[in-house]
Amino acid sequence: MSASETTPFSTLIRTASHEQHTEAENSSFMSDLLGGRLGVAAYTRYTEQLWFVYRALEESADRLAEDPVAGPFIRPELFRVAALEQDLDHLHGGADWAAGLRPLPATTAYAARVTEVARDWPGGYVAHHYTRYLGDLSGGQIIRGTAEKNWGFERKGAGVRFYVFEEVGNPAAFKREYRHLLDGLPGDELERQRVVDECKRAFALNTAVFRELGEQFPLSA
Ligand code: HEM
Repeated sequence: MSASETTPFSTLIRTASHEQHTEAENSSFMSDLLGGRLGVAAYTRYTEQLWFVYRALEESADRLAEDPVAGPFIRPELFRVAALEQDLDHLHGGADWAAGLRPLPATTAYAARVTEVARDWPGGYVAHHYTRYLGDLSGGQIIRGTAEKNWGFERKGAGVRFYVFEEVGNPAAFKREYRHLLDGLPGDELERQRVVDECKRAFALNTAVFRELGEQFPLSA
């Protein structure tokens, strides 16, 4: 048996994306944002991009809930669009922000890929689901703490609700259960490899968004 057949899938996908995870963490935009060198406008622009991506992820959720592969991952307690909208209401001071809002080109590409896999390939959808939600449950908590400190948001309140999973009682237990679901993902070795590759693509799509945000808020330059 090859290592990829004996290693739990949750370990494989995590290990395979490790390098890109470090790259995302160390992107100049993220470093500047978390280092307190950028203003709340940059945080707002970032939150807007997340809104486009999560709409793509969650608009297919009802349909995919019945799918044998993606269905078990669809958990309403994870849904983020409503929280993002509350944050954006707050960040825009109650102004009608949605009407004229345009995604960055990299965000358009990211959301389009999510929509495509949601339509055509449940395993690919799982790759994107994992990359976002497990990340938000993990590193997202670091981003929340820093955002509260940097821009004075109320702890777990308006502006950072995206990072607060109120309905996930025990995030560590939730993540364990999620990894268990990943380990049981149906499909042969080839399909699992395709899912890992899609996860890497998801990371690359994120990094591209950070790059464009970095160009818009070029502090490290
Ligand atoms: C500055 C930004 C970030 C920080 C500080 C951060 C930090 C972390 C931390 C501390 C963990 C937990 C690792 C563990 O359980 O041992 C984690 C996990 C994770 N992060 Fe991030 N992260 C960041 C950005 C991102 C981005 C941009 C993505 C992708 C969109 C991402 C996706 C993930 C995923 C999928 C996991 C779960 C890994 C697993 O347990 O399978 N992270 N992150």
